[in-house]
Amino acid sequence: MTQVSEAPGRTRAQIAEKTFRQDPWWRQPAIVVTLLSLWVAYATVRVFMGHYYWVPAYHYLTPFYSPCINGECVPGSSTLGHWFPAVPPIIPYAVISLPFVLGFRLTCYYYRRAYYRAFWRAPAACAVREPHEKYTGETRFPLIMQNLHRYFFYAAILISILNTYDAVDAFHGKTGGVGMGLGTLIICVNVILLWAYTLSCHSCRHITGGRLKNFSKHPVRYWAWTQISKLNARHMQLAWTTLGTLMLTDLYIMLVASGAISDLRFFN
Ligand code: FES
Repeated sequence: MTQVSEAPGRTRAQIAEKTFRQDPWWRQPAIVVTLLSLWVAYATVRVFMGHYYWVPAYHYLTPFYSPCINGECVPGSSTLGHWFPAVPPIIPYAVISLPFVLGFRLTCYYYRRAYYRAFWRAPAACAVREPHEKYTGETRFPLIMQNLHRYFFYAAILISILNTYDAVDAFHGKTGGVGMGLGTLIICVNVILLWAYTLSCHSCRHITGGRLKNFSKHPVRYWAWTQISKLNARHMQLAWTTLGTLMLTDLYIMLVASGAISDLRFFN
């Protein structure tokens, strides 16, 4: 009869080497650290810049400033109106949405895996010794806050609706009426991908198909769960793609708003 004399956690191999792996296991965490750091640096600069976020001729608003609620927001850019007097961008102009967007991404199951491995090295990769002596999981503060993800998901749905409004508003022609340019296209692609990322969330999948005892009695929820499961299989790719499209959308609008480039107009 096999006897287990110690708890599973203490029966891990006690080896002195950091790892026996021969492959470049460090490559993926290094790429994640580099890309996420670059993105956070770019977004931080842009959020606090307070300029070049709105193109009045075509109604292009960067997602980093939506909704623009500061009294400093230029005329036309405030979809939901001004919520407080003009203050410098030491407080981001989209202060009501950014904490939720940030919270949604930070507590995302995929990003958690990525930054736990890349930044906290807990562990950095499979079969690589981690530098921490203790692991308490997500059962204590602050990591217990990760369980708020579902509530951030609800907020993300509202923000996606707002982004959709901004995309429709971007079909604005230079002489009024309907128009379309490269900026409109970039904004629309970004919003579609943001919806795909949001709906591919694990919480969304659970909300649509979870806690059901019998799928055959809930055909609509089963259909929705099936579609969301397909998206969910691409959640990691969507997480990275949307970081890229967010940055590209903001960069394009900044260049047009600052006059560095002209928008390529398809009509009006
Ligand atoms: S699991 Fe990634 S957004 Fe919900």
